[in-house]
Amino acid sequence: MDVKNQSVVITGGASGLGAGAAGLFVEKGAKVALFDRNLELAEEVAGQLNCAAFQCDVADEASVLAALEQATGANGAPRIFINCAGIDITGRIATRGGGPQPLAALGSQIAVNLTGTFNICRLGADLVRQLAPVDGEEQGVMVNVASAAGLDGPRGQTAYAATKAAVIGMTLPMARDLAAYGVRVVTIAPGVFNTPLAAEVLRGDPEAAVETVPFPKRAGKPAEFGKLALHICENPMLNGEVIRLDAGLRAT
Ligand SMILES: NC(=O)c1ccc[n+]([C@@H]2O[C@H](COP(=O)([O-])OP(=O)(O)OC[C@H]3O[C@@H](n4cnc5c(N)ncnc54)[C@H](O)[C@@H]3O)[C@@H](O)[C@H]2O)c1
Repeated sequence: MDVKNQSVVITGGASGLGAGAAGLFVEKGAKVALFDRNLELAEEVAGQLNCAAFQCDVADEASVLAALEQATGANGAPRIFINCAGIDITGRIATRGGGPQPLAALGSQIAVNLTGTFNICRLGADLVRQLAPVDGEEQGVMVNVASAAGLDGPRGQTAYAATKAAVIGMTLPMARDLAAYGVRVVTIAPGVFNTPLAAEVLRGDPEAAVETVPFPKRAGKPAEFGKLALHICENPMLNGEVIRLDAGLRAT
């Protein structure tokens, strides 16, 4: 689908990968709405990129419905969803000094990474299914964001990896569910990207985590994530797939 003039929702769009994708989609002429829990930052980024921003907690039904209504009012009904909202709480599942990892670490990551992604997809897809195809074929595209950790997670990431494996697991059945409405579903599993989240998880230095990356030996740039998200939208043969975007990284 050509994204030009299409209404696009980017969750987690105030920062990192979402903001990187937003810049590229705006450049290509898409009408972008950033959905983020952090409205202040989302509005700042939207001001720089010349797009819209709306307060949204992806895990909350009423909040998503309200943001969808606002985005539809501003840009028309969204057809494309780039679902970047996510959190990463590191910690080993049990340690000698700290005992078991708090159960809440899993619960809060499930709420954003899994429930949030499912929530946006189900409410978004219900809108898209009511639209006419744009090009006689496609009605919409869902791009979900998992993580390489959801496939081969490193230590300290048991809970996070579980939520990302769940996003990976949703991909094919969701693509099958939405095929009747001309909606494709593709998941990106990024490796290490230079974002505030990665800086926090990797103690301030995402570049230090790329020693084992074959090539290029550096953290990815948010715009490089944006390029893949854009290509997924533009290439109708990509569906029901999980694509690693990690420069060959395999966690050891
Ligand atoms: N950066 C990496 O190296 C990396 C690697 C693999 C996967 N990922 C995944 O990519 C996605 C984006 O990560 P990032 O690195 O850009 O992080 P980031 O922290 O820079 O951006 C995440 C954004 O999501 C928003 N957000 C968090 N919870 C939300 C909620 N409940 N509702 C709405 N918005 C919410 C935050 O406010 C923030 O703006 C995440 O799902 C992350 O797990 C990132």
